[in-house]
Amino acid sequence: MDLLEIENKTHNEVRQGEAYVSIDDSQNVYKKYFYIESYGCAMNFSDTEIVASILNSNGYGATKNVEDAELIFVNTCSIREKAEATVRKRLTEFRKLKEANKNVLVGVLGCMAERLKTKLLEEEKLVDMVVGPDSYRSLPALIARAETGHKAVDVLLSREETYADISPIRLDSNGVSAFVSIMRGCNNMCSFCVVPFTRGRERSRDAHSIVAEATELFNKGYKEITLLGQNVDSYHWHDEQKHQFISFAKLLEQVALISKDLRIRFSTSHPKDITDEVLYTMSKYENVCNHIHFPLQSGSTRLLQLMNRTYSKEWYLAKIDKIKEILPNCSITADIITGFCTETEEDHKETLSVMEYCKYDMSYMYFYSERPGTLAAKRFEDDVPLDVKKRRLQEVVDMQGIQSTASNLRDIGRVFKVLIEGKSKKSDLDWSGRSEQNKSVVFPKGDYPYQKGDFVMVKVTDCTRATLLGEIVG
Ligand code: SAH
Ligand code: SF4
Ligand code: F3S
Repeated sequence: MDLLEIENKTHNEVRQGEAYVSIDDSQNVYKKYFYIESYGCAMNFSDTEIVASILNSNGYGATKNVEDAELIFVNTCSIREKAEATVRKRLTEFRKLKEANKNVLVGVLGCMAERLKTKLLEEEKLVDMVVGPDSYRSLPALIARAETGHKAVDVLLSREETYADISPIRLDSNGVSAFVSIMRGCNNMCSFCVVPFTRGRERSRDAHSIVAEATELFNKGYKEITLLGQNVDSYHWHDEQKHQFISFAKLLEQVALISKDLRIRFSTSHPKDITDEVLYTMSKYENVCNHIHFPLQSGSTRLLQLMNRTYSKEWYLAKIDKIKEILPNCSITADIITGFCTETEEDHKETLSVMEYCKYDMSYMYFYSERPGTLAAKRFEDDVPLDVKKRRLQEVVDMQGIQSTASNLRDIGRVFKVLIEGKSKKSDLDWSGRSEQNKSVVFPKGDYPYQKGDFVMVKVTDCTRATLLGEIVG
């Protein structure tokens, strides 16, 4: 993987900038068609499905062709400068459409809307609506205002909004796996991070509504759900009827009990908060996948302190040991930032050595991008030169390449339970799916009667850098 490729990837590699398939609208007459694109993390993608649901129940139909839409929305990400630049570039591409049809309205949703607020209207003249992540219920009213020729802005953050009652419309779905948001916001204030400012205070969603949504998905034929939150380990909800406190481990158990045939994943875990109870719940329920996304950020305790991650290198490594002890087959993936303020070669080497120790199966790696308004931007100088940040990133990428290859080679000869997600991109004769460990597995369909959405046992016979290759063994 080279640097350019990394730059083009967003966290969790969520379908960046894709257009979504329209829902069946043959029976309906819509007020207008909307087109929506999503950038950034899985939570943004999940929010886009909520937005689609709100718009649809207010009489708007989804289209995957931007040319057919009179409402164009972009759900945006602010995590790094590059993420915002991508959106700005995309916005300029809508200019022609607006010129061709005076009724076209453009709305910026999500984190960039929240970060820049009305400034976005000054900077991007073609934008008609600016809507923060907690204001999606106001969208119909905002559209109505924009239709009268006025700019419409709602960027109020909420302490309560979880959209618990809204049943998301599954966009661009493979019909097999879906995201379920379990909480919003973040209280952690990692010094490099813009999320607490764009998403507001942390709040947990009603556990009943989560279990109900997961059950409904299962009943509709979905086989895998991913529970989403910036820090799932701090999920907490009080069940007033049963006088019960629901922790993340309890929630995980409740969702796991829906059916043995429903796979459960979750993201993201925070090293300071993950509990042994979560690890034991994972080991108790076979359908909770053996995979933990466990962001490191840096291997230097000094830097972790400056980052306000509130754990040390030793704490992190002890957690890794615990995961490996309780869940010997668990894959571990990470997020890593190079070139954070004051990072020395020594600090960087510590990151590399922690990577070597942890043997991550995969990582998302970035160089530090200063975000206005964050604690780091206020307190520290962004003093590592760009070429140094990039060189260190390349070293981290190379180290991960070695670890990923070694991890894949270790899998050769092993048998994994794979959920078939669809045909392989390269050949109609092959299936593509994922193992519990979240590795992509490609294998010939053979004469077996398997379908998309089936679980199948696959023996790994070979690998490429990013994919396991295998054959069905039952
Ligand atoms: N809530 C998750 C991460 C959310 S953001 C967690 O706490 O781990 C996803 C990743 O983007 C982060 O883990 C971090 O590695 C990266 N990131 C966040 N802010 C960044 C910045 N200013 N520059 C570079 N990378 C950043
Ligand atoms: Fe950002 Fe830290 Fe919250 Fe993750 S835990 S979203 S990195 S502030
Ligand atoms: Fe996600 Fe980007 Fe916002 S990572 S929470 S969309 S800043």
